[in-house]
Amino acid sequence: MKYVPLKRGKLAYIDRGKGPPIVLVHGFPLDHTMWNAQIDELANTHRVIAPDVRGFGQSPLGEVDPNRGITMEEFADEIAEMLDALEIHGLVVYVGLSMGGYVGWQFVRKYSNRLRALIQLDTRAIADSDEARAGRLQMAENVADWGSERVAEMMAPKLFSTNALETRPELMEDLRRVVGRTPPATIAAVQRGLAARPDVTAQLLAVRVPTLIIVGEFDAISPPTEMQAIANAIPGATFVEIPNAGHMTTVEKPAAVNAALEEFLARL
Ligand code: MLT
Repeated sequence: MKYVPLKRGKLAYIDRGKGPPIVLVHGFPLDHTMWNAQIDELANTHRVIAPDVRGFGQSPLGEVDPNRGITMEEFADEIAEMLDALEIHGLVVYVGLSMGGYVGWQFVRKYSNRLRALIQLDTRAIADSDEARAGRLQMAENVADWGSERVAEMMAPKLFSTNALETRPELMEDLRRVVGRTPPATIAAVQRGLAARPDVTAQLLAVRVPTLIIVGEFDAISPPTEMQAIANAIPGATFVEIPNAGHMTTVEKPAAVNAALEEFLARL
């Protein structure tokens, strides 16, 4: 991994391949490794930038107000700051999964002049229900006592399809390892930011770049009907459903996801 100094501290990122820049932003509470299969493939044709966003993977959390946490907008600002620091001033393709997608909506809102295209996987436009928000705040309060590995166990049934959980134990091992090394302070701060994220539905109509929406057939967090509605709201968006995949489409069905990405990117 490489490191780039940002205002709040250093940010770790993967930088591979040559060509038009494409930025891959991971979900919660994960890191860039959820894109490994996409990085390998896309680096044949693109310059792939895959950060560990602040507090995850190899990127330190730095100072944070524990009561406020980190907002999706702040993460989007750091992606823009990272691009500046890497002297990528031309247009980029932004790709986000789940939390990376929430950050993506903020990136579109503030930095649409930097966007060549948008790819959103397994993400939501609406804000949390009261129940979901309460669950996040409860985790934020308790994760220091629970430990991060317990968060992996709690989230696994929502992240993976039943079939993947039953037949691919390595996915659970990877999840335990990645989430297990995520500091509880990161999980707490980001759950607060996730709970506070706004409903961006009204903003979808204003997305003016080519957009691809991808969702796993069995996504339990951002189900296909919800993502189809997002695709319908964005002018000209393409919608692809990945059969037999849960929320983590990139690791459950990498070949199908890569095929959808390549077909879309070839048309740009
Ligand atoms: C993610 O995959 O980024 C999270 O599950 C998103 C969420 O908690 O809403």
